[in-house]
Amino acid sequence: MRKVAKEEADLLIERASELLTIRGGSRKPILGKRMRDLGIIMDGAVAIRNGRVVRVGKTDMIREKIESSNVIDASKRVVMPGFVDPHTHLVFAGSREEEFEMRLEGASYLEILQKGGGILKTMRETRKAGKEELLEGCRKTLSIMLEHGTTTVEAKSGYGLTTEDELKCLEVMKLANTEHPIEIVPTFLGAHAVPSEYKDNTAGYVDLVADEMIPEVAARKLAEFCDVFCERGVFNIEHSREILSQGIRHGLAAKLHADELTGFGGAELAAEMQAISASHLLFSSDASLQLMADQGVIAVLLPAASFTLMTRLYANAKRMMELGVPVSLGTDYNPSCWGENQQMTIALACHQMRMTPAEAIAAATINAAHAINRGHDIGSLELGKRADILVLNVPNHRFLGYHFGVNLVAKVVKDGNLVFDRESDRNLISEESPPH
Ligand code: NIG
Ligand code: FE
Repeated sequence: MRKVAKEEADLLIERASELLTIRGGSRKPILGKRMRDLGIIMDGAVAIRNGRVVRVGKTDMIREKIESSNVIDASKRVVMPGFVDPHTHLVFAGSREEEFEMRLEGASYLEILQKGGGILKTMRETRKAGKEELLEGCRKTLSIMLEHGTTTVEAKSGYGLTTEDELKCLEVMKLANTEHPIEIVPTFLGAHAVPSEYKDNTAGYVDLVADEMIPEVAARKLAEFCDVFCERGVFNIEHSREILSQGIRHGLAAKLHADELTGFGGAELAAEMQAISASHLLFSSDASLQLMADQGVIAVLLPAASFTLMTRLYANAKRMMELGVPVSLGTDYNPSCWGENQQMTIALACHQMRMTPAEAIAAATINAAHAINRGHDIGSLELGKRADILVLNVPNHRFLGYHFGVNLVAKVVKDGNLVFDRESDRNLISEESPPH
């Protein structure tokens, strides 16, 4: 019998004890109990060509059809899609460790903000910083994220709070995106706090955001989304609605920080605006969550924000899943919640919100991809999707969340290139990988 020539792959990852395909959610986020089915292939393999997944299946079957001079043996290890982090405040200068101690002594997050600290302290430091300094900070953060398995990250502006400084931060993201393997998806968050110069004139600042910043950001194509910190004492419902509506008019899909510190009507507003996502949601009622479910607004849950606020309150992820709200998970990386690691998010989601490891994994991959409008392209290992792939040093997926406080990532492949390899002492990011 004639032997059929095998197809050549650029890279073949094979013999995974579990290959988590997380298939079936490319069109819409995965809901409720279906999040427990990660589409696991035992003894699985994935073949990659031109930065994309070309075949997924049992190793023996893939081997009959595919050959490659570049093979990674993933025996006794889990292979899965890269983490997607759908909520970060990536670009800032300075740090807030003194406030961390003040909060340990009992000061609240909003008290500190009202006294000119918190976001406003970071704003002062970010305004002073030049692009190169901000970019340097970004590079460090992105490399930590990548080593911990994050291959795509959403990033919000919001520490400039003048037109010029907001544009500066968004331009830093754009530069970082061209030079670092991680893809950065930018969000404009000019309405993050009311800056000191508008202290008694919130309406004036809202006008600046709506009339000057949004048109400029949109014209320069520096953001895909517009977000608002909708909270008592920060931006109320009317102001949030005004800003999000203007964003939508300029082609920026709506996102919202909703019901983080108080029940404030944020979830209802997110549903009304048909926002792509709403974050935090600690104080949202069942009725408002139902509205989100009806409109398909994705919940971005941020257990590390709860952990660092030290209020012991976590979003009710299980209830959201029962109600049919699509649930995703992010780090909320920012100067009061300084953690880059989505594995930590998963551990907190399991321990504090009782999500199973499988549910948390689906939330931090495919559903997180949908929360930033990338569900068609990343977040699962299926034909045609980007080859953003992790090899984890664990025998099965339940170790994510269960074995915590250490980095379980052995290798990271981004767009088909090996960009992090714990087993190698060379720095692959600068030596081999082309920029994203
Ligand atoms: O998602 N709540 C508003 N924004 C961030 C915190 C930003 C900061 O404190 O610098 C959040 O929790
Ligand atoms: Fe945030």
